[in-house]
Amino acid sequence: MEIYIRPHADDASKIVADHIEAVIREANGGPVTLGLATGSSPIAAYDELARRHREEGLSFAEVTVFMLDEYVGLSPEHPQSYARFIREHLVEKVDLDPKKVFCPRGDTGDPALEAARYDAAIKDAGGVDLQLLGVGATGHIGFNEPGTSLASRTHLVTLTPKTIADNARFFESKDDVPVHAISQGVGTIREAKKLLLIATGENKAEAIRQTIEGGVSARWTSTALQLHEDATIVVDSAAASKL
Ligand code: GLP
Repeated sequence: MEIYIRPHADDASKIVADHIEAVIREANGGPVTLGLATGSSPIAAYDELARRHREEGLSFAEVTVFMLDEYVGLSPEHPQSYARFIREHLVEKVDLDPKKVFCPRGDTGDPALEAARYDAAIKDAGGVDLQLLGVGATGHIGFNEPGTSLASRTHLVTLTPKTIADNARFFESKDDVPVHAISQGVGTIREAKKLLLIATGENKAEAIRQTIEGGVSARWTSTALQLHEDATIVVDSAAASKL
């Protein structure tokens, strides 16, 4: 595992943008599949990538995107849907083809079937070259809460009260936060060729300690990064404070 610790969140975001840019540039105009994440942690990295697109000619024309997860019950138009999040934070700011940006459908009548379809779609596309990850305070990657098998495939998940409370800041009230989501499984995530996790702020310090120094366990699903041969973790000093 490669670990970067930077004083400020902005410096950490630039390192994340560097890694994503490197994968695109190494493909030399060929196709690239990125797995992308939501949450507040990656937003500054998306802003930096959009700046590099505008000012330095970084092109996403050959990039396909698979999102990590989506809330069950939200349509892609819902202001808090993850489909809309990535449109607003990246797709509309660069030359990504919206037809090549995929997200589980939260408004499906059959989430388990949608999860299986999505998992197969990732495989059919040839897998993910680089998967960007945030981490929840519970150690979740995607929405793989404590106790999720490290071999799990894309699945229907029930969010923990802690995650619902943490994500309530994006909704009008806690009661509006969906209780279920469709998330790539830990096993699905682990199949990406590269994993890149960003965490900033003191409330991630324990999750980062467990991710890097804890025993590999479904209790902290982010510890699955220890099993991956090309995993990078980028943190600011606050998130690194318990290492
Ligand atoms: C949500 C997402 C996760 C993300 C987490 C962290 O729960 N499903 O993929 O890692 O948020 O959020 P934040 O970056 O806002 O702390």
